[in-house]
Amino acid sequence: MAGRRDLDGLLERAENLARARLSAKRYGHTLRVAQTAERLARRHGIDPQRARLAGLLHDAARELPPERLLKLAEEWDLPVDPFERENPKLLHGPVAAELARRELGLDDEEVLRAIREHTTGSPGMGPLSLALYVADKIEPARDYPSVQRLRELARADLREAAVEALRRSVEHNERRGKRTHPASLQWLREAESAAQRRVE
Ligand SMILES: [Fe+2]
Ligand SMILES: [Fe+2]
Repeated sequence: MAGRRDLDGLLERAENLARARLSAKRYGHTLRVAQTAERLARRHGIDPQRARLAGLLHDAARELPPERLLKLAEEWDLPVDPFERENPKLLHGPVAAELARRELGLDDEEVLRAIREHTTGSPGMGPLSLALYVADKIEPARDYPSVQRLRELARADLREAAVEALRRSVEHNERRGKRTHPASLQWLREAESAAQRRVE
């Protein structure tokens, strides 16, 4: 893992990379996610600087056109499943992680994993991934009916907040007749059966 001074340098370079690649609007979102991830990390005993780093980089590939995302993923030998092939926008997480590895030399696997996983989530997400996933959903400019409830949950329990956010996004997709990535569905199933076991 990078030392503290390396981390300061990385944070600055990550911010520059995001600024260079994103519209002002999405760069604003990026800064708010970084700040929210940092705050959640502090509250839940996770390294705040690394959470901030993940936040700064998470959407770095978000404004690349879908064909470009797919092409880069193929060029870089990233795994692409059939669902992602049909919905290349979902690749902006994995592509951003690889971009950070290549352009910034980022080799912190937990941070890379958080960036990679922020689009679909995945079963067995670690604390840093959860902090980023939740921060992306509750950053201060997010405004949808259930966001207050998610903010409260996030103060108490990151995993529960993440699963609740996931459940809402699956429902949202269903209402609009859209399918959800299999990794997200599997994560939800596993989380629900774990909750069930706790009740029994
Ligand atoms: Fe994203
Ligand atoms: Fe985002």
